[in-house]
Amino acid sequence: MSILVLGGAGYIGSHAVDQLINKGYEVIVVDNLQTGHKQSIHENATFYQGDIRDKEFVQEVFKKETINGVIHFAASSLVGESVEKPLVYFNNNVHGTQIILEVMEEFGVKNIVFSSTAATYGEPKEMPIVETMPTNPENPYGESKLMMEKMMKWCDNAYGMRYVALRYFNVAGAKSDASIGEDHDPETHLIPIILQTALGQREYLGIYGDDYDTPDGTCIRDYVYIEDLIAAHIAALDYLEKGNESNIFNLGSNTGYSVKEMLEAAREVTGKEIPAKVLPRRLGDPSKLVASSDKAKSILDWQPQVTDIKQIIKTAWDWHVNHPKGYE
Ligand code: UFG
Repeated sequence: MSILVLGGAGYIGSHAVDQLINKGYEVIVVDNLQTGHKQSIHENATFYQGDIRDKEFVQEVFKKETINGVIHFAASSLVGESVEKPLVYFNNNVHGTQIILEVMEEFGVKNIVFSSTAATYGEPKEMPIVETMPTNPENPYGESKLMMEKMMKWCDNAYGMRYVALRYFNVAGAKSDASIGEDHDPETHLIPIILQTALGQREYLGIYGDDYDTPDGTCIRDYVYIEDLIAAHIAALDYLEKGNESNIFNLGSNTGYSVKEMLEAAREVTGKEIPAKVLPRRLGDPSKLVASSDKAKSILDWQPQVTDIKQIIKTAWDWHVNHPKGYE
């Protein structure tokens, strides 16, 4: 079985490529290396450097390779940046996906699994979040992902192209041997920032607001371990291979941790003090996002295996200690 992984040099994509290869799949990676790292791509993957918006390039890849299914991670994914540059997000995420779907249709490739996001829900009224709740994105990033879901729905309707949209909550951690991990520039995510502070690379963690309507006043998120998240993609591929209908699943660990709880857990894992100070709220941050992953459990038979937050942080810590400058 041969799988095309779009965005296979990114944080999540590189873990997917690694797990697919270890499970015996043939893997073709496409990445423009705008945010991805060539060093993170498994040596047994076939790599094509190029942009998914370049139709001729994408057609070349489909011509040269046998492709049984696609996993699509290639997207811009920073909420704050998307508010400032919405057109960049619609171009890369929506237009890029359109090209992929056009080429899939042309070459008769029927199955696609892709990364969607909890940001499609906006600020939900009830917790935990289930897939049937209304979608009301509050930023262009979430909107672009919702548009991608809808494009796929209509391509299924017209061409019988089937998809699984996986709505991620907060993806965290690194491969347990610390060989691949999270390396963004600029880094905006909580766990890497906490750990860079523990390493002395930052002076302090800025906590974005402690006046939210939560027990300690800081935002609550649902952290899901990267390797568990990837296992859900492989389960989704199997699900489509077996001829099941297109579907949407939340991927989270069903437990919420506040920013202060994450900081405390990281202090215990690292044994470092990790200075922190409270800053104003960051624009567009919902106070609380916790998933119900019951649907993924009942239909994909998926359940996160690593749910202890300290164990997840420990994998990220091992990565940061071993790669203090990331892939550089
Ligand atoms: N935070 C801080 N200080 C920091 C960084 C983050 O206090 O320096 C807080 C944020 O305010 C938030 C929490 O830590 O409350 C987690 O922030 P992240 O940036 O790590 O993650 P987000 O929840 O903002 O974003 C994640 C994904 C997005 C996705 C979003 C869905 O990274 O791709 O969830 O809401 F869109």
